[in-house]
Amino acid sequence: MVDTAPHPRRGLRRPRVVIAVLATLAVSAAGVGTAFATGIGNAPAVDTVGDVDFVRPLAVPALLEPTIDADGTKVFALHAQPGSTSFVEGLDTPTWGFNGSYLGPTIRAARGDRVRVDVTNALDVTTSVHWHGMRLSGEMDGGVHQPIDPGRTWSPQWTIDQEAATLWYHPHPHGATEEHVRRGLAGLFLIDDPVATGLALPSEYGVDDIPVIVQDVALDRESGELGQRDGGSSGHLGDELLVNGTLAPYLEVATDVVRLRLVNASTARVYAFGFDDGRTFSHIATDGGLLPAPRDTARLQLSPGERAEILVRMTPAETVVLRSESPDLGGVLPVFGGGNGGADRFDVLELRAADDLESRGTIPPALAPADPLDPASAVVTREWVLDGTEINGQAMSMERMDAVVERGTVEHWRVRNDMSFPHNFHVHGVHVEVKRFGGAKPPAALTGPKDTLYLPPGVEVEMVLRFDHADPTYPLMLHCHLLRHEDAGTMAQFLVVEPGSDTTVTTLPPSASGHRH
Ligand code: C2O
Ligand code: CU
Repeated sequence: MVDTAPHPRRGLRRPRVVIAVLATLAVSAAGVGTAFATGIGNAPAVDTVGDVDFVRPLAVPALLEPTIDADGTKVFALHAQPGSTSFVEGLDTPTWGFNGSYLGPTIRAARGDRVRVDVTNALDVTTSVHWHGMRLSGEMDGGVHQPIDPGRTWSPQWTIDQEAATLWYHPHPHGATEEHVRRGLAGLFLIDDPVATGLALPSEYGVDDIPVIVQDVALDRESGELGQRDGGSSGHLGDELLVNGTLAPYLEVATDVVRLRLVNASTARVYAFGFDDGRTFSHIATDGGLLPAPRDTARLQLSPGERAEILVRMTPAETVVLRSESPDLGGVLPVFGGGNGGADRFDVLELRAADDLESRGTIPPALAPADPLDPASAVVTREWVLDGTEINGQAMSMERMDAVVERGTVEHWRVRNDMSFPHNFHVHGVHVEVKRFGGAKPPAALTGPKDTLYLPPGVEVEMVLRFDHADPTYPLMLHCHLLRHEDAGTMAQFLVVEPGSDTTVTTLPPSASGHRH
């Protein structure tokens, strides 16, 4: 097997970008491409730095207690349901949540655990739940091929087979993911393993190990509605932040080191996290797990879907603000709308240290040993080019298999943003190791296990991946995690088959023709 990439490499990049820009403008003007119709023009920059009063204690999502069934499987129950949430006292906002009115409980399991999640849809529209970052087979993945109709329950089960990490879950109904996430359907899925447990890291959930789920909202103070605010071709860019569903939050810290699990659960916005006093912090984990060693930095950028764990050192009685400075989005053309949030800044969360802080000791100098894939062992090179709302020139179709890969093999993927506005890239069921970024060594923030990353305009990212879970029927997805782009078609699907299978014959899953769970 040599190169099965369906897309030939293009020699002339610059003309291609210009053509793509013009094509998108034409599509918008014709009113066909609603995804970008609002992206033309300059949205004013949002800047909440210094204006957030930090009056509400940060909510921490409850840990979901599993029941243990006869064979030892940990069984979790999630109910997607409509509700009403008061982000501001006295104002009722219609929202959706899991087991509550907004967001969902945190699921926690350990490597080796057999888990099942009974997901019941109590909404009046079809949804689904995808385990973002989980290495599993297509059938359990919860993408577009596992729709859950109203009143129905979907019960995927699998064995946790990956390193300790901060994952998340959210709906993935074809064409409506943005709306379902924006209304509040998202939660964390934490994985533990002996390596992480054996390290002296802050690990008391809600005490010194804190989820920080960041979402930008456009909250109407009159109607209470969560609206949509279009800040460029990226999609919805809100003008206020919720952290774990709390507006203007503060957190009381009682330890001298606190671990924050940063999750960008926004539908389109990129954040550049740091602190108001410019202090450095230790970046200890990327999307898929711990880094080999802590990396000290003052700034960490996360695009939608990405996660990071950081350790912040605190001194007694101090107050410090987690902030998002203007992110570096790369060379976005101004015609695509005020830089897509590239000039925006936010105050995110105030950390208030107690007068006496309990010591958490020194930060371990080594974390999880790296076990990199050998790029030379890649047997296939594929190219995925993200255009306006397409990948390799085609919008997502449930009825078309875009690639077939063999379980256990290492592949080399070249992923490129051919447009002059932001995209990012997420692949289901597998972790990626970034090897080259824009023709150079990848930035340090991308050196750990990843499943989602920002794709600046015109930049190609090279990565290696190995697929460990075959499923002859249900494909996995790859897509832009700017959810309006995903919904508009910037997504593709691939099947993982057993080695030696015929990779040219694929049966489409029953869901491709309208069957529902
Ligand atoms: Cu978090 Cu396919 O998505
Ligand atoms: Cu995109």
